[in-house]
Amino acid sequence: MARYAHIVGWGKYLPERVLTNGELEKLVNTSDDWIQTRTGILQRHIADPKETTSALAVKAGRQALQVAGLSPRRLELIIVATISPDHIFPATACWVQDALGASHAVAFDLNAGCSGFVYALDVARHLIVAGAYKNVLVVGAEVMSRFLDWEDRSTCVLFGDGAGAVVLAASNAPGGVLACSLGADGSGGNMLLIPAGGSRLPANEETLARRQHFVKMNGREVYRFATHILPRSTREVLGKAGLELEDVELLIPHQANQRITLSAAKSLGFGEERVFSNVSRYGNTSAASIPIALCEAIEEGKVKPGDHIVLVGFGAGLTWGAALLQWSEVPLRAKPSPARRTLARLIYPWANLRSGLLRLYRRLDAIWCALVKRLAQLIGKAR
Ligand SMILES: CC(C)(COP(=O)(O)OP(=O)(O)OC[C@H]1O[C@@H](n2cnc3c(N)ncnc32)[C@H](O)[C@@H]1OP(=O)(O)O)[C@@H](O)C(=O)NCCC(=O)NCCS
Repeated sequence: MARYAHIVGWGKYLPERVLTNGELEKLVNTSDDWIQTRTGILQRHIADPKETTSALAVKAGRQALQVAGLSPRRLELIIVATISPDHIFPATACWVQDALGASHAVAFDLNAGCSGFVYALDVARHLIVAGAYKNVLVVGAEVMSRFLDWEDRSTCVLFGDGAGAVVLAASNAPGGVLACSLGADGSGGNMLLIPAGGSRLPANEETLARRQHFVKMNGREVYRFATHILPRSTREVLGKAGLELEDVELLIPHQANQRITLSAAKSLGFGEERVFSNVSRYGNTSAASIPIALCEAIEEGKVKPGDHIVLVGFGAGLTWGAALLQWSEVPLRAKPSPARRTLARLIYPWANLRSGLLRLYRRLDAIWCALVKRLAQLIGKAR
């Protein structure tokens, strides 16, 4: 049985459309100056009306699989952390499973607010270490823009859309996800929520008129919670692994607000060079923010083999969580042969075709069953 879960692939996707603070000035009573000084955000990416959360997740997931050199058919589990799913059900992870052609993978969503990716990483790690699965895709994906009230300046300036993904693989080599520390306090559930559209307050004309299908937030309270929980959670996860703050090369906090990040860094005694930040370009992409940031930190060469990295998040629930990684050298893969490259190019068109054929089969099967039933009835009558 493998004792460790290593990150062997990573990917991200940000929709093309960029929405600047200047453009927001025309939508609501705000200013570029207010947004920059209070949050550090300069712009965010917004999904095209046809782009869904699963579509973003698939793009990030494909990249992660490519880096890992892994065929989707070898995935055994897909977890999508999201608070902006395609539907209440089925799980967004099932759409992702279908689009990737990951026909042997179990798939489910995980909702832990903006801490969702760290929660999902911990679940995946435990399932790998327990021997249940060897290759797992963990995605954080959000289309927050569909759930924002574009008339509410206190929330719409903060969030953005995007997706980040990692492939976790079983290994006996020490390293990978070394420890996680998670927490929740449901008494703070009303601090950050979408009040209507669930079983507590089903959709009706009144909820629509009251704009209760959009994100509502007590910003000041969430701010207080965040600045207190990020340092605590970081210390807790290090304590679990018997490490000190000095042992950490890079802290990747949930990207919600640059002031929150700086406050946490100050309380931990981390200089800016040890704290990753990209909130200025993407805003708060909720469960996608940590995997997007991790992906960029790797691409920018800020993560080296042997480094200890802490991912730490907080969010709706209230929830929080930190994961301690020891980065490992991803083994150099042999260059794929031309035949393999051709096969790889066919994977996703084939997944699409397979999905279509399965749908067609289900329809024909239903027609066939109805015919057989009718025939049996006619024979019964004739007798
Ligand atoms: C939302 C947040 C940026 C607000 O910053 P703040 O410094 O706390 O600002 P306040 O809430 O004290 O509001 C100050 C004023 O700015 C106003 N304001 C709010 N949003 C504004 C905007 N976009 N543009 C201009 N003014 C705005 C408020 O109405 C308030 O005006 P008032 O004093 O006349 O009532 C900050 O509280 C925050 O980041 N909270 C955490 C949010 C978060 O991380 N959420 C996601 C969790 S995963």
